[in-house]
Amino acid sequence: MSSMKARQGPDATIGVVGAGYVGLITAAALALLGHRVICADVNDARVRALRAGQVPFFEPGLAGLLAEHRDRITFTTAPATVFDKAGIVFVTVDTPPLPSGEADLSRVESVVDAIPPGVGPLTLVMKSTVPVGTGATVRRVLDQRGLFRVRYVANPEFLREGSAVQDVTHPDRVIVGCDDPADAVVVAALWAPFGGESMTCDVASAEMIKLASNAFLATKISFVNEIANVCERVGADVEVVARGMGHDHRIGASFLRAGIGYGGSCFPKDVLALMQLAGNSGYRFRLLAAVIEVNELQKRRVVATLREQLGDLRGRRIALLGLAFKPGTDDMREATSVVLAEALAAGGATLVVHDPAVPPSALGLLPAGTVWARGTTEAISGADAAVIVTEWPQYRALLAPGTSAAMARPLLVDGRNLLTRAEAEDAGYQWLGIGQPAARSGEPALVRAG
Ligand code: UDX
Repeated sequence: MSSMKARQGPDATIGVVGAGYVGLITAAALALLGHRVICADVNDARVRALRAGQVPFFEPGLAGLLAEHRDRITFTTAPATVFDKAGIVFVTVDTPPLPSGEADLSRVESVVDAIPPGVGPLTLVMKSTVPVGTGATVRRVLDQRGLFRVRYVANPEFLREGSAVQDVTHPDRVIVGCDDPADAVVVAALWAPFGGESMTCDVASAEMIKLASNAFLATKISFVNEIANVCERVGADVEVVARGMGHDHRIGASFLRAGIGYGGSCFPKDVLALMQLAGNSGYRFRLLAAVIEVNELQKRRVVATLREQLGDLRGRRIALLGLAFKPGTDDMREATSVVLAEALAAGGATLVVHDPAVPPSALGLLPAGTVWARGTTEAISGADAAVIVTEWPQYRALLAPGTSAAMARPLLVDGRNLLTRAEAEDAGYQWLGIGQPAARSGEPALVRAG
């Protein structure tokens, strides 16, 4: 069989360059669909671990899926091998923020540089989140190198950590951006078995759909967080307000959970990247500047609450429950826990931390002297206050009879409204939620002035 036939046959191998979060889930999903996948990563240790069946991060269902289809997935440290073997190659490298907030595209550039001369036909599918205009730039580079048989397709990824396998195998939408509709057919057909609305558009619009979607969701969160802050002052309950708003289908009920700020590898980075992109184009995106500011302030609100309650924080023992940026992941990138820990330690508090998924090596990301607890009760024992930073369902164990008595002072700041005032108070805590009236509903709420 000629190499051209092998590239185009029905069981053709599909390439994935970048064995990070998006890459491994893409590889696993393609293997699930019955394709053979060759996955490259420049990190030698990571490739060795993957060959041995170890997944370098925690994501429910991913290790099982990779194990189940390991006969169809091979790992390599050489991206050039991928271009040799595959007719469709997904780019899934990371695009971390530069100090300016703009996306660092150096890894994307190295993938493009690794495309061997004369290769083709090849469909290069960009899954990494990139600034609008990246596709056009890559096209120019490909043309300059005479790689006219390489087609470029933008196929942004919308998966969420913690539910990545479910999100990829049950997508709401599949966005395919390309110059030639024929290229869209190839990529849309790959994902079609998983369902979801398929939409084809130009490359720049596809790139913008990804950034605009994340920025809009972040805006929803900052909006509801500001509503929460006002609710606290005027005696309304943000949980009730969000529920009432969500019944309007134009608003929708999702992403209206008030809390102590969004984090993770996408929202903070993508909101900033879109703001910078707009700025570079000569447009000042005022709304996004406010979304970021609100989020940064929200992450620190707990510090003021604790000072109000405890006075000077020096020598106070404070338990932080949850380190991951959200439940269901061990990812601490841009997590509120890190910002909060730094601010509280700077105020002189002693910190005790716990997380059901994050390994103790995360202590390296936290202020010196932070104490690691193996369980919820151990974390809150002798504490002057406990803060629910991540809404892990496990923390409902705080309600078990007698648990609050382990604290020196049963002050519970619930940064995610995991509990209700009634159940927390019944369990013996002084409970302070987000956007909550000062008293139990049914009792007159204190209206704070200003
Ligand atoms: C997000 C997007 O949802 C996903 O489509 C994109 O591909 C990557 O970025 P992810 O970062 O995994 O996914 O997490 P997500 O579940 O969206 O939560 C992001 C942050 O927002 C978390 O810190 C979460 O706690 C916070 N959040 C979310 C809220 O504070 N309130 C909400 O109502 C929803």
